[in-house]
This record gives sequence, structure tokens and C-alpha cells, in this order.
Amino acid sequence: MIPTQGPFPATRLRRARKSPAIRALVRQSHLSPDDLIWPLFVRDGEGVEEPIPSMPGVVRRSVDRIVEAAREAHSLGIPAICLFPYTAQDARTEDCAMAWDPENLSNRAIRAVKEAVPDLAVMTDVALDPYNINGHDGFVVDGQIVNDETVEALVKMTLAQARAGADIIGPSDMMDGRIGALRAALESEGHRDVLILSYAAKYASAFYGPFRDAVGASGALVGDKNTYQMDPANSDEAIRLVQRDLSEGADMVMVKPGMPYLDICRRVKDAFGAPTYAYQVSGEYAMLKAAAANGWLDGEKVMLESLMAFKRAGCDGVLTYFAPDVARVLQST
Ligand code: PBG
Repeated sequence: MIPTQGPFPATRLRRARKSPAIRALVRQSHLSPDDLIWPLFVRDGEGVEEPIPSMPGVVRRSVDRIVEAAREAHSLGIPAICLFPYTAQDARTEDCAMAWDPENLSNRAIRAVKEAVPDLAVMTDVALDPYNINGHDGFVVDGQIVNDETVEALVKMTLAQARAGADIIGPSDMMDGRIGALRAALESEGHRDVLILSYAAKYASAFYGPFRDAVGASGALVGDKNTYQMDPANSDEAIRLVQRDLSEGADMVMVKPGMPYLDICRRVKDAFGAPTYAYQVSGEYAMLKAAAANGWLDGEKVMLESLMAFKRAGCDGVLTYFAPDVARVLQST
């Protein structure tokens, strides 16, 4: 190896930290509003913004308010939003038929946003859990989450979203073979430019707790998701999953959760060089917000530091509930 630095005092690494100007010159990673995807929760009604207690500062919005949030995202320079519908327990069914209804909340929200703010990219969620009576991402038959029947339903759901105008399809279900099936269906219907951001390395995580409150799935979920989401102990399996999803037609891949899995982000980026995203999930957001509310952490600083960590780990962007707050901070600096 060619020596790149001599012994002290020829090398004093503190020189490169001596002032804001020098630090700016040598800074390796940068965070900008371009890096953000803002997840939004949709509910029924009009003029409604309903707080989610376990996610301070996050609300469920009726479609008209989603459109307002989309305008805000656009004006803050955030390139994309991601929509998640809230469904009350009594509207959930075993056949999940609402998932591919062109008039469901998500599809109405997609159309409304694309009409009002056409330049903003709209990402969707593809999984059955918002509609399923038992809270699972797939159909449950005799206590098992069945793969292939679920993939057929996900295809119908995806086509309904693409017809509504979605730019990016986000399969978060972790069934096998779904990326290939979704890609084939999109191509055969002429949706050639619809992207797929695969939740490729999605772990069975307790950090999703507040999200399940937000979409009304906490009470609904029977059992756990361990037969389809990944074991937090595994790393090589993430590489196999990403490789598989890219080969089936994913344009972008995701690691989820984010902060506890930064090692996976780095491995995925180094191995494939594909557009790589992390999801800073609800539990990560809730932890930082709770500590900040108690005065134990500086909320703004940990928000910025936690998001910079994803850039340093090789991510091209982050799904984060902090999106509008961090965009405002970045705009003012
Ligand atoms: C379910 C889904 C989950 C999240 C996004 N899509 C939760 C789960 O798998 O149970 C979690 C996001 C978050 O915690 O912020 N399809």
C-alpha cells in the first residue's frame, strides 16, 4: 500500500478540522432536501388532521389535507411523498378487496396529488396489512401467510396504483417473487416508466410499533411477521434479497429500519451500486422525539445527525417523518 500520511507532526489530522471553512472543504457527505421521501398517512373525511400520539408531530390527513402537504413538500424542495392509508378495524376484511379498489383512499389521494402537484413524485405502499382483518401483509390461510396467492393480490393492487398515476411502487410485503410479477404486470399494461422501490431488506422489527398505531394495525395484528420479514441477526441474506429484487426488475432498493441497520446500507451500496434508500422508521422517529421532548437530546441536532448517518453509510436518500422539518432547517442554513 502507498503510504498516504506521514508520522506526527507531518500529519496533524486536526488541521482539517480547524475552521468551518476548512471543514466545509473536506466534508464527504451532504444532506439536502433532494434526499428526502416524506411518508404521509391518509384517512377519510375532509379538513381532518388527526394526531398520532406515539408519533408526536405526525398526523393522519384527509385527502384534501394530503394535497396541502404535497404542495408544502414541493415548495420545500422534497422530491417525493409516500402514501399510507389508515383503515379502521371494522372496514378490514379477510379478502382485502379494498386494496385494489380504484376508489380506495390511497388511489384517490394519488390522483388528487398528481393533479395538484404533478412535479412531485408519488410513492405508494404495496402490502395487504392496511386492509387485512388480521393485520398481516399477506393472506392468511390456516394460520400461514400464503405467498403466491398474496403476490396475485399485490399485482392487482399495483396496477390500480399505476392507473391512478403513481410514480414509484413500494412493495413492503416481503413475499417471494413479487418484484418479477409486479414488473411483468406493469410492462404488459404499458406502465413502462413506473419505478419499483423494493423494500428488499426489511427486517422483522419492533421499531415499527408506532407505524402500526398510525395505520390502525396494532390491534389487528395476530402473531408476528417473522415468516416473511428478515431475522435481525442476518446480513448475507440481505445481499441475496437485494440481488434477487434487482434481477427481477426493481429500480431502487430499501433497507428498513434505518439506524440499527446502517451496516446493511453500506454492504448493499458497495455490492450493487444501485439507488439505495433507508427507511428511518416510526420507532426511530418516536425515540428521538421523546428524548427531545424531555430535554434529554437537542432535537434539531439529532435529527440532522441521524439523517447524515444514512448519507455516510452510502444511501442515496431516506424515507423520514422528519422530512418537512429537516427541509426547513436545510433551507434556512
Ligand atoms: C407494512 C409496513 C410497515 C411499515 C411500512 N410498511 C410495518 C410493518 O411491516 O409491520 C413500517 C414503517 C414505520 O415503522 O415507520 N407493510
